[in-house]
Amino acid sequence: MAQQQIWYGGDYNPEQWPQAVWAEDVQLMQRAGVNMVTLAVFSWGLLEVADDQWDFGWLDRIMDQLHQGGIKVDLATATAAPPAWLVRAHPEILPVAADGTRLEFGSRQSYNPSSATYRAYATRLTRKLAERYGSHPALAAWHVGNEFGCHVARDYSAESAAAFRGWLERRYGTVEALNQAWGTAFWSQHYTAFDHVEPPRATPTFPNPTQLLDFDRFSSDALLECYLAEVAVLREVTPGVPITTNFMGFFKPVDYWRWAQEVDFVCDDAYPDPADPASPGLAAMMRDLMRSLGGGKPWILMEQAPSAVNWRERNAPKPAGQYRLWSLQAVARGADGVMQFQWRQSAAGAEKFHSGMVPHAGTETRVFREVEALGAELKSLAGLVGSLCEPSRVALVLDWDSWRALEQAAVPASLDYVAQLQRWHSAFWRRGLGVDFVPPEADLSAYDVVVAPAAHVLSQAARQNLAAVPGRGGQLVVAYQTGVLDPDLHVLLGGYLGAELREALGVWVEEFAPPALVAGQWVPELALDGLAAGPATDWAEVLHAVEAEVLATFRAPGALVDGQPAITRRPAGPGAGAGGAWYVATAPAALDALAAAILEAAGIAAPLLPAGVEVARRGGRTFVLNHALEEQRVAVDGAAVVVPGRDAAII
Ligand code: GAL
Repeated sequence: MAQQQIWYGGDYNPEQWPQAVWAEDVQLMQRAGVNMVTLAVFSWGLLEVADDQWDFGWLDRIMDQLHQGGIKVDLATATAAPPAWLVRAHPEILPVAADGTRLEFGSRQSYNPSSATYRAYATRLTRKLAERYGSHPALAAWHVGNEFGCHVARDYSAESAAAFRGWLERRYGTVEALNQAWGTAFWSQHYTAFDHVEPPRATPTFPNPTQLLDFDRFSSDALLECYLAEVAVLREVTPGVPITTNFMGFFKPVDYWRWAQEVDFVCDDAYPDPADPASPGLAAMMRDLMRSLGGGKPWILMEQAPSAVNWRERNAPKPAGQYRLWSLQAVARGADGVMQFQWRQSAAGAEKFHSGMVPHAGTETRVFREVEALGAELKSLAGLVGSLCEPSRVALVLDWDSWRALEQAAVPASLDYVAQLQRWHSAFWRRGLGVDFVPPEADLSAYDVVVAPAAHVLSQAARQNLAAVPGRGGQLVVAYQTGVLDPDLHVLLGGYLGAELREALGVWVEEFAPPALVAGQWVPELALDGLAAGPATDWAEVLHAVEAEVLATFRAPGALVDGQPAITRRPAGPGAGAGGAWYVATAPAALDALAAAILEAAGIAAPLLPAGVEVARRGGRTFVLNHALEEQRVAVDGAAVVVPGRDAAII
């Protein structure tokens, strides 16, 4: 991106307004420092008004008006919401839910990603737009579809079932290989032909776990194919224009490691709950993910709410200052754009109560004043465009197969995968450390600390990759429910973890013993002695330390794990520097002491920051963000910095 300014603006839906409003929009955009809008995301029905009948007049006019106003356009391919005439002519493009319900027209994303008809119409529209606007001076980027998989992550129609069978044939070659991978000797699930396989629709009881996982993998790939079909047209017609689509943070249905390879720059839509005190930490984690997906390159915050959303049970507005603070957080953690949903708050439709940069009440409002102020501030930060964040020395393993498998039914305890990641991310975030997310087979040589929480599904290559960390002087931290299954979801026998990690960690696991939640209480109640002394939650297991020192033990009178190891560490062998392999068999409430010990072993000096304070470094600037309400005093590079409540200092 030959970018001069931090992108600032948002989704712009001029078609919802009389054209008389457009001139005022452009004027207000200029006043607010808006330099980019995302246009035409849901405009298909007003662009192709009947089969192959086009009305581009309005889009021509607004493209020109925006250009004259000095505002660039991230132009959507408009394929996210097929129009009524198309659905009526081809009802087979409608998606079908697992229970067989056909999802009707009348909201958005009413298409099945495997539908050849949908793809044909979508790529024709894409071509029309590319031919018409490819050399328009306002065009900055293509925005393909919108939030792929957001509403229809899996489709169970006959067409998808056929595509799934094709996907399985390509993956397995023979039905015997499928039988082997899926473990179909269990419950008489053996297949004699690919034709007999269906998506895991509503079943009498637990469906085959590998069938489920394969359907998840297939569904992510089907959406990706849909995206790539449009990308192919754009590359052909407008080879020089960058292409993206908006991701959704930690979004389980779509494997962003695969998708990130197919976008020219990574974008994210992030809507942390303003009312949740945990949101700043969660948002920081999403920003770190986006930076990591792009291999460290700047990314764009493509959507956030200027204030409240409309899709929670109760929708808190952003209190004064939070919009700015969370926007600066994105910049601090690598964003080159701060975009909102949406420019002008809708007067009709399902999102009329979702905030906009121009609220219902107009411009003499708190929201618009904050919008204007941020526009000016972002302009002053233009020097950061293109700059990188301080390199992270800590990596957190993130794996979509592990996420999906961990959260399947019929497992020892239901665990929330993202919560496992967040626990560790937060331990480092609270010390001002940036964390990179990595897939399990990534090159880990840049990291001094590699943490793998609940990396449930690991290939042999991944196990070897992780096991090699201590030998080259790094700290490997493995937390429970890692290395339990291979990529076909077959158990790694002989004490879990796989031989490579058992060896590296010097431990094996005999039995799982997770506490249950009974009337809001953990039973048994777990506590830890030693490092991380205090209560523990979520998980316990009977762990044997064979070649590892025991750093903490369970205290749970009467329970299986009482007196057993809970946290262990195997120092790497002689000549291997100061490497270490830590195993953590529970979720200690006091993770700070453990994190401190790990960081100390890695030679990383990062003291705990005052509660609510975040420090991030990018392009030679240090962002000190105070998410707390009270003023905080922080030592940054030897100097004391005082930051008022819900405010930021950039030094
Ligand atoms: C996003 C979507 C936008 C808008 C927004 C509301 O998921 O891309 O179109 O619906 O949510 O928060």
